[in-house]
Amino acid sequence: MTASFTIAIDGPAAAGKGTISKAVAAALDLAHLDTGLLYRAVGVKVLEGMPAIAAAQSLTPEDLQRGDLRGPEAAQAASKVAVIAEVRAALVDFQRAFARRAGGAVLDGRDIGTVICPYAEVKLFVTASAEVRAQRRFLELSAKGEAETLEEVLADVKARDERDMNRSEAPLKPAEDAVVIDTSDLAIEEAVARALQEVATRR
Ligand code: DC
Repeated sequence: MTASFTIAIDGPAAAGKGTISKAVAAALDLAHLDTGLLYRAVGVKVLEGMPAIAAAQSLTPEDLQRGDLRGPEAAQAASKVAVIAEVRAALVDFQRAFARRAGGAVLDGRDIGTVICPYAEVKLFVTASAEVRAQRRFLELSAKGEAETLEEVLADVKARDERDMNRSEAPLKPAEDAVVIDTSDLAIEEAVARALQEVATRR
């Protein structure tokens, strides 16, 4: 496939959208961009003392390779810088260019179907209850030996949901034409199969 074909996958933290996005991209041989990494990279620069807007405007591909982007501190910092309109604006062109690359792309985030790629051929909104998401994130963190209690992880998930859904700039919500996949009671293989079915009907 040489024409562009964009799959937008949005949803709250730890709903499974990252895993689904990677699996869909691998199955269909599409490029994949985890847009949360952009906000995380800006967030860690702010934790290091850089002003948020300057950090977003000077972001480089190398910044996305940093080893410290996946942890809870980076996640909270990302969610905080993500409310700033100028930060979001600085990251738009890169995401749109990636989305329209020849061969097709999967982008996952919070506002891909609503703001970044309203023209996406496929829009999915992957969600799950806060409790299920916190439980999954807790197991992930425990497996890595990172000490956080389930209560702390749940509080973290809820704080990010609250901020991501209620900000005025590009709040987290399903696009009107998005297909919602609730993964609360789905195994990851089932969720990936559902996503691939949706893509197949639109390709
Ligand atoms: O997907 P993630 O957990 O890595 O995202 C981290 C934070 O970045 C998230 O809480 C909100 C923000 N974000 C955003 O506002 N828009 C996106 N497209 C992706 C992430």
